[in-house]
Parts: sequence; structure tokens; C-alpha cells
Amino acid sequence: MKKGLFITFEGADGSGKTTQLNKVKSFLEQNGYNTIVTREPGALKLGQKIREILLHSEEKVSDKCEMFLFLADRAQHVETLIKPSIEQGKIVLCDRYTDSTIAYQGYARGQDINLLNNLNNIAINGTVPDLTILFDVSTEIAQERIGNEKDRMESTGIEFHKKVRNGYKELQKANPERIKCVNADNDIEKVFEETKKLIQCLLQEKYGE
Ligand SMILES: Nc1ncnc2c1ncn2[C@@H]1O[C@H](COP(=O)(O)OP(=O)(O)O)[C@@H](O)[C@H]1O
Ligand SMILES: [Mg+2]
Repeated sequence: MKKGLFITFEGADGSGKTTQLNKVKSFLEQNGYNTIVTREPGALKLGQKIREILLHSEEKVSDKCEMFLFLADRAQHVETLIKPSIEQGKIVLCDRYTDSTIAYQGYARGQDINLLNNLNNIAINGTVPDLTILFDVSTEIAQERIGNEKDRMESTGIEFHKKVRNGYKELQKANPERIKCVNADNDIEKVFEETKKLIQCLLQEKYGE
């Protein structure tokens, strides 16, 4: 059996991650690949409860509490869904993963990045993505796309979002083999063309197809 693949989608809210992830899923399925779509936070029942707390808490969620909640969700997600699916030969498409922790909790909220890397490593226990697609969008365009439908994580100020964007760029520079950047300011089809090329490259590299 072919080894599965693990692809993560990263970028700001409004960068088009979910839109592109769904298009990639259709593309892969049309080409006969067994694909599974998942997301963080909150892919599983336990994670949904965590997601509820993070996105809609009436009480202020402290930075450390937020960090541990995301990591708790990730540990459970990897162990019970991501890792077994890869082992079954599936292509796992995941909306947000370890880089979100570093960009948001690290670069934007100022938590210690080395500490976050260590905690991420504990949570994922070696399940590193084969490819991470970074949807780089200008903050103004992302905000326009999101409009008024903002939850707790999305309603943080423009400076915060700029720090997130910069954090992602730093991550890309530090991990150029794994993280590939797409210009997400473009229209949906153009972004998909770029995204599809990255997926095809990976399939070629891993499967020779
Ligand atoms: N390239 C694009 N150009 C214009 N609108 C887009 C583009 N990509 C996504 N959208 C729209 O922007 C909104 C946010 O997209 P979404 O895929 O949910 O982003 P994310 O998952 O990164 O938050 C949706 O209404 C979507 O239809
Ligand atoms: Mg989304």
C-alpha cells in the first residue's frame, strides 16, 4: 500500500484556506486519491468543545490557557485521526496545524517561540506535514473578505493580523522545503492554479505520478 500524505493549509482568516482545501479535495478525488479533510481546532467531539471555548468564551481566555487548549486539541487530533489516516494510505488535508500556533500564539501574542516549538513537538510526536501551503494575503483584503462575520479570534485588531502575517513569512523562510507560499490576494481560480501545481509537485515527488 502507498504511504499516505499529510498536507496542511495555513494563513490568516479570510486568506481562502477552506475554499482552496475543498477544491484540492475535489481535484484529488477526481484523480482517484483517497482523501480526508480535517481542521484545527475542533475536528473531533472533544476538540469541538475546545473550539467552543476558544471562539466564543464570554470570559477572557488567558494566553497560556489558549496555548494549552490548542495543543491539547492537536495531541488528540494527531493520535486519533491524522496519524491513523496517513497509516491507512490516505491523503490528509488539514485546515491549520502547528504553524498556526507559532504565528498566532508566538509571533502575534508574544509567547516564547522555542517553548511553543517544543510543545508542538510533544503534541505531534513526529507527525510533520509533507507539505504546508501558506496562503499569504494582504491584511486589508482578508478583512474585507471576512466582513462582519467575526468571532473572537478574528476580531483582534489590524496590528495583530500584521504580526500573524509576518510570523508566517518568518516560518516560511525558516522551512522553505516544507512550507510553500501562494499569493492569496488573487482570485479563487488563480490561487487554485498555484495551489494545484504544489500538490502535483508533491505527488510527483512522493509517488512519481
Ligand atoms: N481568492 C479569493 N478571492 C475572493 N474571495 C475569496 C477568495 N478566496 C476565498 N474567498 C472568499 O472569502 C471568504 C473567506 O474564505 P475562506 O476560504 O473561508 O477563508 P479562510 O478559511 O482562510 O478563513 C469566503 O467568503 C470565500 O468565498
Ligand atoms: Mg476557514
